[in-house]
Amino acid sequence: MTRYMVTSALPYANGPIHAGHLAGAYLPADIFVRYLRLKGEDVIYICGTDEHGTPITFRALKEGKSPREIVDYYYEHIKTTFARAKISFDYFGRTELPVHYKVSQDFFLKALENGHLVKKITKQAYCEHDKMFLPDRYVIGTCPYCGAEEQRGDQCEVCGRPLTPEILINPRCNICGNPITFKDSAHYYIKMQDFQEKLRKWIEGNEHWKPNVRNTVLGWIKEGLEERAITRDLNWGIPVPIEDEDMKGKVLYVWFEAPIGYISITIEHFKRIGKEEEWKKYWLSNYDGEETRIIHFIGKDNIPFHAIFWPAFLMSYGKFKDGNGEFEWLLPYDIPANEYLNLEGKKFSTSRNWAIWVHEFLDEFPADYLRYYLTAIMPETRDSDFNFKDFKAKINEELVNILGNFVHRALTFVNRYFDGKVPERGELDELDRQAFEEIEKAFEEVGELITKYRFKDALKRVMALAAFGNRYFDYQQPWKTAKTDKQRTATTVNVSLQIVKALGILIEPFLPDASEKIWHLLNLEELKKWEFTEIPAGHKVRKAEILFRKVTDEDIIFFIVKHIARGNPESAKLLLEKYYKMDEVVKVTLEKFGKERKDEAMAILKSIYKEKLEKKEKKKEEKKVEYVKFDEFAKLDLRVGKIIEVEDHPNADKLYIVKVDLGSEVRQLVAGLKKYYSKEELVNKYVVIITNLEPKKLRGVESQGMLLAADDGKNVALLVPDKEVKLGARVH
Ligand code: MF3
Ligand code: ZN
Repeated sequence: MTRYMVTSALPYANGPIHAGHLAGAYLPADIFVRYLRLKGEDVIYICGTDEHGTPITFRALKEGKSPREIVDYYYEHIKTTFARAKISFDYFGRTELPVHYKVSQDFFLKALENGHLVKKITKQAYCEHDKMFLPDRYVIGTCPYCGAEEQRGDQCEVCGRPLTPEILINPRCNICGNPITFKDSAHYYIKMQDFQEKLRKWIEGNEHWKPNVRNTVLGWIKEGLEERAITRDLNWGIPVPIEDEDMKGKVLYVWFEAPIGYISITIEHFKRIGKEEEWKKYWLSNYDGEETRIIHFIGKDNIPFHAIFWPAFLMSYGKFKDGNGEFEWLLPYDIPANEYLNLEGKKFSTSRNWAIWVHEFLDEFPADYLRYYLTAIMPETRDSDFNFKDFKAKINEELVNILGNFVHRALTFVNRYFDGKVPERGELDELDRQAFEEIEKAFEEVGELITKYRFKDALKRVMALAAFGNRYFDYQQPWKTAKTDKQRTATTVNVSLQIVKALGILIEPFLPDASEKIWHLLNLEELKKWEFTEIPAGHKVRKAEILFRKVTDEDIIFFIVKHIARGNPESAKLLLEKYYKMDEVVKVTLEKFGKERKDEAMAILKSIYKEKLEKKEKKKEEKKVEYVKFDEFAKLDLRVGKIIEVEDHPNADKLYIVKVDLGSEVRQLVAGLKKYYSKEELVNKYVVIITNLEPKKLRGVESQGMLLAADDGKNVALLVPDKEVKLGARVH
């Protein structure tokens, strides 16, 4: 039986994992491995953190920490994040494991012994200001192959070529920005020419590789391979294992030792489970007569290192000897590389926090949602785009409405009509028979697609079975037949539950949590296997439960405000403005953060919207009502009176002098009513007046109170009692 050794690229322990990483090298491998396990295949899935090289030291320098602090922190962080995303490594190790030092140094020594290494003294990039050599990422400049500017000295992000600082055009020190100088330094180089022909033939023979990987690599090989340094002037990493003054304080090049980590981490894994020799079956050619396929899942930037250098390193070792004989190292069987994932149309950028960090996303959404969406948009053949609106649509319209809905319907009906027991079915009609065929086909086709690394299509195929389930249910109309034909209903419910069970298995590689839930709802204890067996009649299932809840705009707003804004308010603003109005964002944020965290919420919102929000707040402030205590209101003495006399004010065009009878007294008021009422209209009107307003002279005439009137800016209308009341009646 074929064995599988599956790996995902060892992530640098210099930062968290983002959705682009996950979709590129981890999720596809995990789906593949979970499928193989369900098939009962012999498969080991290995990964771990890549803890050396300038990506680590450079980060340490920027953060003012030691490389050890950086790698220890991110090893734990990354490991935990993968666990939360349900990436099911057999073992997640690290290149700081002692066994990794040993194996890497052994590889170096064997290559040396076999004559594939040469020591050369050459001019190396050096910074006079920082007083140090500048390997790899410590230099930035223009790519000599494609002309892309601001590229780091290890690899061009645009054309993907491996670089060295010395060949960059217009090179500058990446620490201080000064132009670099050159200084002699001794290093070991691997003679890549030794492997040129062997590599070419091997790759040409690998016709099963993805065309993007195979063609790029063959192109590079045809241009001719050159010697490449595999040691570095760096004070962090694996020491060069030879007694040589020239090599003092130097370390192995990270891209030399990191892939060896796949082997050393496998060794560690088997040691931990007490099977020390077992690793050999997975890494050595024909160790026990069984075939092993080594499959490296990577992102496209890793292609040259896995398809050219790594196989060359394996070849340079020569034969591995132990008590059982001499064995060649197995070369990778396949290197499925994915393209890149963008975020809302733009490249992920750590510095601008234009990224979906997996640990943050999982704080707000279930792992299955992330896995579903990333699989649905997996950048298998071209770059793809993470888009919040699309995320919401795919979850709600597919996962919730199709899969969740079908499972729920089937379970609801078995509980409603059959007391939760799978009913015995009667004779099958054509559609029932089709259902069983659909199940069989789904197992076959989904499996086939997964083996071809076509995960997006594989997921679609699973969902097609769920959609079939819904159509089946709609057509059979068990809610109608329940009243007329119990036997028919029994058959429909039985068949529906069989489809649910099939889905519970088929979905496992993609959505392990949903698969578990389906198994739980069906009350199944058997081990899942990639094959279909029916649930027997009489089996008792559990009550229906909601499998997935919908993603709302509130969820998305909250995620962006809480997580993306914290790293970079500008990025959050760009994202939010694409979909939402500020008012909505403010409302949702305040609701979600709650009263106790209002200040925190406001601080974040202000960082996002700045002046715009402040302006808005000011306006609101101005409009703000001031509340009046009831006691204060009660102090006003409002009473009903009757106008008994109206005269023109002698000194003002707009004013009348009005006499009002309050029953016990008559008051004189001055009122601006001339524009709105004639004298005749006013006389005999019942009105409301404030009697205890401080008396005031208006243009020389005393006003002993105020008439109540409504004023809309255009018109003025007196308030009048709507029934007859006694003069002097109190108004409250
Ligand atoms: N750390 C590298 C990266 O993130 C990948 C290393 S893969 C290994 O790009 F093969 F070298 F381990
Ligand atoms: Zn380039």
